[in-house]
Amino acid sequence: MNSYYSVEEWSVVEEQFDPSMQEAAESIFSQGNGRMGQRANFEEAYSGESLQGNYIAGVYYPDKTRVGWWKNGYPEFFAKVLNAPNWIGIDITIDGTQLDLHNMEVLQFRRVLNMKHGFLERTFRVKLDGLRQVEVRTKRFLSIVDDEIGAIRYTVTPLNFDATIAFTPYLDGNVHNRDSNYDEFFWKHIESTTAAGALYLVSETRKSGFRVAFATRYELFVDGALQQQDPEVISKEGYGANRLELSVPEGKDATMYKYGSVVSSLNYAKEELAAASRKSIDRAFAQKFDKLFSEHTRKWEEHWSHSDIVIEGDPKAQQAIRFNIFHLNQTYSGKDERLNIGPKGFTGEKYGGSTYWDTEAFLIPFYLSSAPREVARSLLVYRYKHLQKAIENAELLGFSRGAALYPMVTMDGRECHNEWEITFEEIHRNGAIAYAIFNYIRYTGDREYLSEYGLEVLIAISRFWRQRVNWSDVKGKYVMLGVTGPNEYENNVNNNWYTNLMAKWTLEYTLKAIGIVREASPEVLQKIFEKTGFRETDETEQWKDIIDNLYFPYYEEKKVFLQQEGYMDKKQFFASEIDPAERPINQHWSWDRILRSPFIKQADVLQGIYFFEDDYDGETIRRNFEFYEPRTVHESSLSPCIHSILANRIGKKEMAYDLYLRTSRLDLDDYNREVAEGLHITSMGGTWMSVVYGFGGFRVKDDKVHLYPKLPEKWKSLSFRIIFRENYLKIHINDTRVTIDNEQGPALEIVVNGEMKELPEEGLLEVELRKEVGA
Ligand code: BGC
Repeated sequence: MNSYYSVEEWSVVEEQFDPSMQEAAESIFSQGNGRMGQRANFEEAYSGESLQGNYIAGVYYPDKTRVGWWKNGYPEFFAKVLNAPNWIGIDITIDGTQLDLHNMEVLQFRRVLNMKHGFLERTFRVKLDGLRQVEVRTKRFLSIVDDEIGAIRYTVTPLNFDATIAFTPYLDGNVHNRDSNYDEFFWKHIESTTAAGALYLVSETRKSGFRVAFATRYELFVDGALQQQDPEVISKEGYGANRLELSVPEGKDATMYKYGSVVSSLNYAKEELAAASRKSIDRAFAQKFDKLFSEHTRKWEEHWSHSDIVIEGDPKAQQAIRFNIFHLNQTYSGKDERLNIGPKGFTGEKYGGSTYWDTEAFLIPFYLSSAPREVARSLLVYRYKHLQKAIENAELLGFSRGAALYPMVTMDGRECHNEWEITFEEIHRNGAIAYAIFNYIRYTGDREYLSEYGLEVLIAISRFWRQRVNWSDVKGKYVMLGVTGPNEYENNVNNNWYTNLMAKWTLEYTLKAIGIVREASPEVLQKIFEKTGFRETDETEQWKDIIDNLYFPYYEEKKVFLQQEGYMDKKQFFASEIDPAERPINQHWSWDRILRSPFIKQADVLQGIYFFEDDYDGETIRRNFEFYEPRTVHESSLSPCIHSILANRIGKKEMAYDLYLRTSRLDLDDYNREVAEGLHITSMGGTWMSVVYGFGGFRVKDDKVHLYPKLPEKWKSLSFRIIFRENYLKIHINDTRVTIDNEQGPALEIVVNGEMKELPEEGLLEVELRKEVGA
């Protein structure tokens, strides 16, 4: 597949202006700092197709649910990520003509996302008429040091004439969401002040009542000289602007520095907001662009120093993995336990920007290895804080006695998804939340997490599983009826193997967790039992009975775990037999046809095998992989990464590589033709896993780092960085050897291809690789 963007190791570059690609590029070049995010909309006016998007983490609108047939248990609202007031806008007119790339002849255009230092640059040259040409150069970033602040440098140069240029920096609160269910306006303007040189706006979200204060200040220079004339002050409802008109001689630069600040009632009392906003914009203005920028770039270097991956010999793969890591780092910082990571992060409106099981299954591994442990811990605590709401959510559906069903989609703990077959049935999400607790503790060794938070969550989830299964006299087993597995192309099935596996495993792990907390402190355990009203003997006896007697469908003929009961009644054929013109099937086939087909949207049985790979021997993994991979259409971005890791595990290197490219370049090459809606942020964690867990063969087991490297033929070498407990490791793998550099931390035992090795304190370990060693 040819890339629209040039392949460079540290950047994504668009070399021409193609209006039909504008919305897609706005997603690709999005920026964020964990607190807010901005699509790559132009600062100047643009009359072509564009999805305006400036988003603030945790600030949402509860859009009234829209469904055909209302089912009891549906939530009243869907939490929409809000398009927030636009602070980046700068209208430009040159000799009376408005600068608008959609209406002008564009002679040259280049847009660059610099991933190393986290900024966006654009240069372009346009013709105003047969003669007059103008060049524009812009640079923009959202500070990851001071996450209330963003800054823009915007330079206009009339190349071959003396121009009169008007700059109109503005702050516009009259913004809409494209995905509003009832075409409502989501904001209410509380107050605005439009002064000379500074614009302020305080707005509040309707219904949810988040108050946000926006401020901008600017400075304008011509040929290096600060312009001090009084601007024309323009003020309308929810909109404020300054207009400055000046003469710019031929070949000279007119440069505007515009600073923006966004503060919200998540972090300040409402009555303090206006003052906080002034303080933060004044702070930005006092420091100036270059200082803010150099602090910001230093912080990016620090991020890369423990999260970078270097792939030698494959520039496309190199660019792609950095693109994924870059977006993960700019979407979530771990500073605030109330925030999480939506499937689109800060890059679009779709999916409501809320939290899915994606976080626990696909993102936690990245943050565990690439950031100090508090970051992943914050994601876990987020769910702990939503426990009560998860219990209420389960009650709404008829469960009781402290059983919790975490929402399929949430922003604040309440369910906001509303399709019965997913909202009520895709309950495997509960399992991923339990698994994340296990995974975090396995990785960090932080067992105290169980006493402090984890055990309560596990008990509540186990109680849910206990109530969700029922005894079948016919089978003489417990069964779980009417569920949707990860494969959403099957609904309302009985005994989805994966869901049953997660249920059984959660019960087992909760029993183990009770033992761990008891060992650490019987008093603490007692307190947790009291708080949760836990009747140990009764409840654990029931759990043990389910563990021993839960039904798991199996397909004897092929000796594979069966995705669900009845799966083999379907007419069986392979994804390769689908007419390519009909892919993706979800855009071409009726839902009825999809449901009756054997096609699998995303890893389902294989997701379970991936989670618990040590429980299965290589042959079992191979048989299941070979059975399910040909039936999988990978129409969820969360699918190829899991298949790639398993393909590597069973030595299918080429397939692992093809699947890797598909996951890592999903957005850059727009495989699913939907990148205009936003990036697949959560699957980026899966991409990281397919490099580090897949090709790197990295695992943490028995309190140790394990490596089973298997590089694709094309790659000369792979190096990645891992934070493991007190150690900061750099792992370099080529065809012949693995080198582990203990950049920081005590001596460590590391298992390489099954053999225990000693990594000295702040020293190096080199291990020769035998060809084709298996995991
Ligand atoms: C996938 C889900 C996922 C959701 C959000 C869906 O297409 O099937 O597994 O949670 O997207 O990423």
